[in-house]
Amino acid sequence: MEINKKRAFVVLAFGTFVWCFSAALRSNQSVPESQATHGIRAKSESNKPLVTLTSSNLSGERMAPEHLCEIGSIPWGMDDIRKELKEFQHAYDRRPVAHSVSGSNLFHAFAQWCLIRMLQPQYIIESGTMLGWGTYMLRKAAGCDAHIVVLSPESPERVGKDRKQKYFIDYVGPSTYLTEDKFTDFSDVDWEKVGIDTPAKKAATLIYFDDHQSGYRRLLEAQRAGFVHAMYDDGYPWPGDNYALKQTCDRTGVLEDVRASLNDPGFRPSGKVKKAFAYYDDFANFNSTISLDQKKCMADDMAQRLHTYFEFPPLWHGGFRQQNSAMLPSIQQHSVMSVADGEKFLSEFENPIFHKLKTEDEASKYTFFAYTQMKQPFKKKRLFVSDLKMPAKYRVIRK
Ligand SMILES: C[S@@+](CC[C@H](N)C(=O)[O-])C[C@H]1O[C@@H](n2cnc3c(N)ncnc32)[C@H](O)[C@@H]1O
Repeated sequence: MEINKKRAFVVLAFGTFVWCFSAALRSNQSVPESQATHGIRAKSESNKPLVTLTSSNLSGERMAPEHLCEIGSIPWGMDDIRKELKEFQHAYDRRPVAHSVSGSNLFHAFAQWCLIRMLQPQYIIESGTMLGWGTYMLRKAAGCDAHIVVLSPESPERVGKDRKQKYFIDYVGPSTYLTEDKFTDFSDVDWEKVGIDTPAKKAATLIYFDDHQSGYRRLLEAQRAGFVHAMYDDGYPWPGDNYALKQTCDRTGVLEDVRASLNDPGFRPSGKVKKAFAYYDDFANFNSTISLDQKKCMADDMAQRLHTYFEFPPLWHGGFRQQNSAMLPSIQQHSVMSVADGEKFLSEFENPIFHKLKTEDEASKYTFFAYTQMKQPFKKKRLFVSDLKMPAKYRVIRK
């Protein structure tokens, strides 16, 4: 049994290698080393910036609902995003594990895919890998030459063996695994040792945070380390398990009204502003309270640090964690397709396991996947997270 598993894994790794090698030859997508000096390339076919569109300039397709946080824009429009659907579906269809219960789901995998295709990073850092299914899709989207750095306390192999589930380790292109005894939290990694050792290389890197640490803290840490581009998986709009950038950007606490409105058709905002808000970090292992003033400071701080904060559109609309309200769409980006087209999309997968998925269930797992472009260089003496009472582990300055 064990030998069979090993064989299956070798076959899988070899198959992926062959795919990757031939795909690189076919599509000539790889980013040569010299391009590092130019940072990440932003492809802009239709050149319709996504976030700043209004109802009048894209055939009625208003891109920014009322309470959606928006800073700057990305160079892709809906047309560019929709063009990726077929190729993404082809790749997702062929994941060695069709649909994982936890880890990246369909909507988030598509968001990652598009951001990678848009930015064409030379380096990708994945913080939080679990079974490695996210890594598989990162590799598929990025091609063979991108260097993937994986940071996670446990290796995918260990998680797979413990759970008796299939796992993926990237032997395809250049990759570095800082897992198990080599694990180092993102904030403590020596990037010189990893080889991402120049501002140009850092500018050509896309970080993928899927580690359930405070999104705001991760932004500060990434910027301090000199990086420019990051995407965030766990964008909970209210305490899920981390103080996500979605919450950080909310200066007035309007998200709490949206939360209160869920499954309450008669809900009317009271007009009273909340005075205290939850601040969670590290899978909610740390939880504390912040005042409205502290919240506003963090929101202003976030805005100063960023060229862009962009929430990637969900594939189609639905409730949040099976709950809905009239206010919910006001904090959601417009969707890539309608629910009816979503049903058609699911039925077009080759793997019949996807035909069983329900559009509502998939939409419900969408957690406001976000992309940020950070200002560099950015120097600030005071870091707001250090004002809060918290264990050293959760402070941004801890040395
Ligand atoms: C949601 S899973 C990641 C899923 C994966 N990215 C995917 O797409 O399938 C979260 C992972 O973060 C790991 N983790 C916990 N603390 C972490 C930390 N400080 N840095 C990086 N990873 C961490 C957990 O062990 C777990 O494997």
